[in-house]
Amino acid sequence: MRVVSGIQPTGNLHLGNYLGAIRNWVAMQDQLSEDGQCLFFLADLHAISQPHDPADLHKGTLEMTAALVACGIDPQRSILFNQAQVPAHAELQWLLGGTARMGWLNRMTQWKDKAGKNREGQSVALFGYPVLQAADVLLYQATHVPVGEDQKQHLELARDIAQKFNNDFTSEDAPVFTLPDAIVPPQAARIMSLRNGDAKMSKSDPSDMSRINLSDDAETIMKKVKKAKTDPEPLPCEKAGLTHRPEALNLVTIYAALKEQTIEEVLRDHGGEGFGAFKPALGEALIETLRPISDKFTTLLDDRESLDAILARGASKARELAGPTLDATYRALGLVRGRSI
Ligand code: TYM
Repeated sequence: MRVVSGIQPTGNLHLGNYLGAIRNWVAMQDQLSEDGQCLFFLADLHAISQPHDPADLHKGTLEMTAALVACGIDPQRSILFNQAQVPAHAELQWLLGGTARMGWLNRMTQWKDKAGKNREGQSVALFGYPVLQAADVLLYQATHVPVGEDQKQHLELARDIAQKFNNDFTSEDAPVFTLPDAIVPPQAARIMSLRNGDAKMSKSDPSDMSRINLSDDAETIMKKVKKAKTDPEPLPCEKAGLTHRPEALNLVTIYAALKEQTIEEVLRDHGGEGFGAFKPALGEALIETLRPISDKFTTLLDDRESLDAILARGASKARELAGPTLDATYRALGLVRGRSI
């Protein structure tokens, strides 16, 4: 079993990232004790696919490293690194570029959402982004990739690329790539914006009130929850009563995920309550979960040297693990891999 996943180091780590992905990363790390089975990385190469400030990118990478460690990623047990220090990611992306198809990439919903009506004006990197994501996981023979719902389609594409490459260039008994499975949490796979129950909680939303950041203090968390958009009805007693109430469903989903309960259990206890009573309970649950993370995050941030050292050590291990697959890919394509790096 090999677990691999990544996060873009742009903006703050928010509740959607935490409940949709990072909490699962930590759980998988804790189940797999042997060194080298879990690789988690900062997708800094992905971050250049959209306009960015170079100074912010390095700072964001260190901050996201601190945030992941604060959430429970242990750099002694998991390999924690940033893509830019492992050139094999970019190399494999190019090698897979001969296999990925324009039509496949054109169908990616994230590409369609981000490009909108201005496809011609987008960077080539934004279009090729899912091929780099495929390289990220195929490079390490990942078997399990814990992600939120929004990344499932990219993982399916990674499987398609791996399958086509294996078919086209390798014999059946010696495929180069393992087909990875996306692991999406049963609950909290898609945490929505606090301002709009139809849009996912996201770093790129211009309104900070739309998301809970893991670095928010208690007062800010409570304020954001109390101002969260809702409807005037009380909570229903049955899950069916949340249909067509996306904001109410989102708040109940968050509460259930924090308390590790099902939605039915939450409604059994809180059905009939108005939001005037439910929101403070949700705010408290958030503060209780996030306070230890944000305290640890603040302490870790002060020690930039340790954060640099964690990434350097992780990258060195990742480069070693990536070598054999990269070699095999070059060989399968009839290329001889250079040895300069
Ligand atoms: P990113 O940085 O947008 O998000 C990191 C992880 O958080 C999950 N997530 C959410 N889950 C539930 N609700 C939400 N509102 C929410 N918002 C984000 C994402 O699904 C993701 O698991 N392209 C990826 C990073 C990446 C990657 C990879 C992931 C690059 N290479 C290889 C897995 C494997 C991204 O931008 O995630």
